[in-house]
Amino acid sequence: MRNSKSVHLDIPSETEPDEWDTCRVTARDHADGIASHKRWYLSYADGFRNECTIDAAPLDLKRDHTLSVLEKARRIADEEGFAPPLARACLLAALYHDVARFAQYIRYRTFKDRESCNHAHLGMKILKREGRMEGEDPRLARLVLSGVCLHNRFALPPGLPEEIAAVAKVVRDADKLDILRVMHAHLERKPYNPTVVLSLGDDPGMFGEAVVRAVMEGRVASYGDLTCVNDMRLLLGTWLFDMNFPSSRRQFREDGHATAILADLPDRPPYLEPRRRLLACLDGA
Ligand SMILES: [Fe+2]
Repeated sequence: MRNSKSVHLDIPSETEPDEWDTCRVTARDHADGIASHKRWYLSYADGFRNECTIDAAPLDLKRDHTLSVLEKARRIADEEGFAPPLARACLLAALYHDVARFAQYIRYRTFKDRESCNHAHLGMKILKREGRMEGEDPRLARLVLSGVCLHNRFALPPGLPEEIAAVAKVVRDADKLDILRVMHAHLERKPYNPTVVLSLGDDPGMFGEAVVRAVMEGRVASYGDLTCVNDMRLLLGTWLFDMNFPSSRRQFREDGHATAILADLPDRPPYLEPRRRLLACLDGA
């Protein structure tokens, strides 16, 4: 996805989320006031799966990704001590952030937005059409719909109202944390899936100056700067710089995916120094 404005990698997933107690409505969902929404989401996902006449596995993977993102968002909201209304908005935005993936896949047979539609915008339309925010406080509905709409932007627009920004940041962090899990699983296995590694080469002699520079300057690297798979390893590590909350950074470190991805970089320049820098940042996260 070079030069894309989306934060998403359009990757197939091959593993289950860590917290695999997620595919059902739990006591915690009831306590958080999202049980009916989760029940609807699971049934909505099942509906597409049951009527799918092509390979349905990608639909399951999107559902599993969403449920994992929900748990990661829950942890962020918990650890940041968000008040219940804001925390609930974060959870609902996480639950619904990829709701359009099902319709997108059935209609276009791809998750690539640039070849189909903006799935965040379609998600908002679906939520409105399905009346998912009916009966909710209009302020909460605005937070949830904004979180869904903004979740795949390359960067958040400046000047957002504080609560909208908070919801969007939680979803974006949780989304990236789960993508790291999926990328780790893929990068451990050769030959690499060309879709996953954006058809980049894996020549150990290759490297991109721009990605190394981004690491050393403490900023997120751009897909447009990737020249090889090892650059991608560094890029994934730079997502740490884009985490919006201390609890996101903690999860980033504790999940261990970035550390493992970086461990597979060659033990020689130019990767030694940026890897050392990223690992030091992770240590302090
Ligand atoms: Fe998404």
